[in-house]
Amino acid sequence: MAKMMWAGRFSSEADPKVNDFNSSISFDARMYRQDIRGSMAHARMLGDCGIIEKSESEKIIEGLQGILADLDSGALGFDPNAEDIHMFVEQVLTDRLGDTGKRLHTARSRNDQVALDIRMYLRDECDEISKLVFELTETIINMAEEHLYTVMPGYTHLQRAQPVTFAHHLMAYAQMLYRDLERIRDAKERMNYLPLGSGALAGTTYPINRKQVCEELGFTDITYNSLDGVSDRDFCIEICSALSILMAHLSRFSEEIIMWCSWEFKFVELSDAFSTGSSIMPQKKNPDITELIRGKTGRVYGDLTTLLTMMKGIPLAYNKDMQEDKEAIFDAIDTVKLCITTFIPMLSTMTVNKENMRAAAAKGFINATDCADYLVKKGRPFRDAYKITGTLVALCIKKGTTLEELPIEEYKKLCSDFDNDVYEAISLDTCVMQRKSDGGPAPEAVQVQIEKLKAKLRVFE
Ligand code: ARG
Repeated sequence: MAKMMWAGRFSSEADPKVNDFNSSISFDARMYRQDIRGSMAHARMLGDCGIIEKSESEKIIEGLQGILADLDSGALGFDPNAEDIHMFVEQVLTDRLGDTGKRLHTARSRNDQVALDIRMYLRDECDEISKLVFELTETIINMAEEHLYTVMPGYTHLQRAQPVTFAHHLMAYAQMLYRDLERIRDAKERMNYLPLGSGALAGTTYPINRKQVCEELGFTDITYNSLDGVSDRDFCIEICSALSILMAHLSRFSEEIIMWCSWEFKFVELSDAFSTGSSIMPQKKNPDITELIRGKTGRVYGDLTTLLTMMKGIPLAYNKDMQEDKEAIFDAIDTVKLCITTFIPMLSTMTVNKENMRAAAAKGFINATDCADYLVKKGRPFRDAYKITGTLVALCIKKGTTLEELPIEEYKKLCSDFDNDVYEAISLDTCVMQRKSDGGPAPEAVQVQIEKLKAKLRVFE
C-alpha cells in the first residue's frame, strides 16, 4: 500500500483497521468531477498569481483533464485504499506528473477542498431534483385539468366534510410542490459561496486570488470567514430539511392513494405495472410503491437528524465528525430522486373512478353547511341556522334518509323559511359550483388557481 501522505511526521504505519475506518473514498468518490474541476480552478489561480510556475499550472490542469476523462470512461478506477477522493486524485496526478503533481495542494487544505466539493455537488443535485419536482408538478396539473368537474368528498378528521373536486384536491399537492421548488432554489442560492481559500481553518499566507476561483467555478461570492468556510454545513442541513418537507408531501399523497385504492374507498386504481401482488392471497393488488415512499420518508428525516446531531456539539473549525455529512446527504438525495422518478409514472397511469368519488360525496350530509347557509341567505343568523340544520340531520339519521330526500313538510316544521328551492341549494352540483371564492373548489376558481400556478412555475422551467 502507498505510504500515507503524512508519513514524515509518523514513525509507524496506521493499523489497517484505522485506514478502513477513516476512509471515505467508498462514498465520496461520487464527487470526483467536482473535486477535479475545483482543483483545475485552484491550479490556474496558483499559476496566475505566481505561486507556482505558469507552465506547471498548465501541466497540472492538463493532467487533471486526463484523470477526469479516464474516470469518466472507466479507464481509471478508484483505489479503495485511498483515504478519500481528494487524496486519490492528488495521488494519481503525482503518479502521472511526478513533482509537478505535488505542487497542486499549495495554499489549500482538504478542509476547504471538501467544503467546496460538497457545495458544488449539491448545487448540481438541486438542479436535478428541481427538474423532477417540476415534472411531477406538471403531471399533477395535467391531471387536475382533466378533473375540474370530478366531484369528491373533502374531509376533515377523515370524516366527509364538504364537497370539493378531484382537481382541487390534486392542486393542493401542486401548491406544496411549488413551495418545495422555492425552498430548493433558496437552499441552492445560499450554498453557492466559495469556501476554497479558507485553508485548513486560518486562510493562508500565499497571495491567492479567491475571487478568480469564485468566478471560474460559478459561485455568487466567496465566504468571508475562514473558520466558518471550513466548518459550515448549514447548507447540507438546509437542503436536507427542504427534502424532508418534500418527502412529507409525497408521503401524505402516498397515504391518500393507499386509502383511495382500498375496497372501502375505490376512488382510484393503480396500473398493474405499478402494483404488486401477494404471495399467498390471490385477490391482492397492493400499492407497495406508495407504501415504500411513505416508509422512505422516515429515512430522509433520519438523514436530517444525522446532520443536525453531527453538527450540534463540534467546536470550530473542521472535525472528522463532519465526514459523516456525505452519506446522510447523498442518501437523502438518492432517496428523493428514486421516489419522485417512480411516483410520476405511477400517478400518470392511475385510473380515477369518478362515479365512486361522486357517490361518496352524495352521502354523509356533506351539504349540511350549504343547508345552513341557505337559511342564512334568507336572513337567519348563522348560529341559529346551524342548530336547525343539525336537528334536520339528526332527523334524517333517525329516518334513514338524506337531506335531499327529506320531504319539504319536515323542513317547514322546523323552520318556516324553508321552501322548495332548498333542494336546488343543497344539490351536490350547487354545493361545488357555488364554492367559487378565491382558492375554492368550483371549476372556475380552480381554473384560476391552475393558471396562476402555471405562471409562477415558469421560472423553474
Ligand atoms: N474526507 C474528509 C471529509 O470528508 C476530507 C477532509 C479531511 N480533512 C482532515 N483534516 N482530515 O471530511
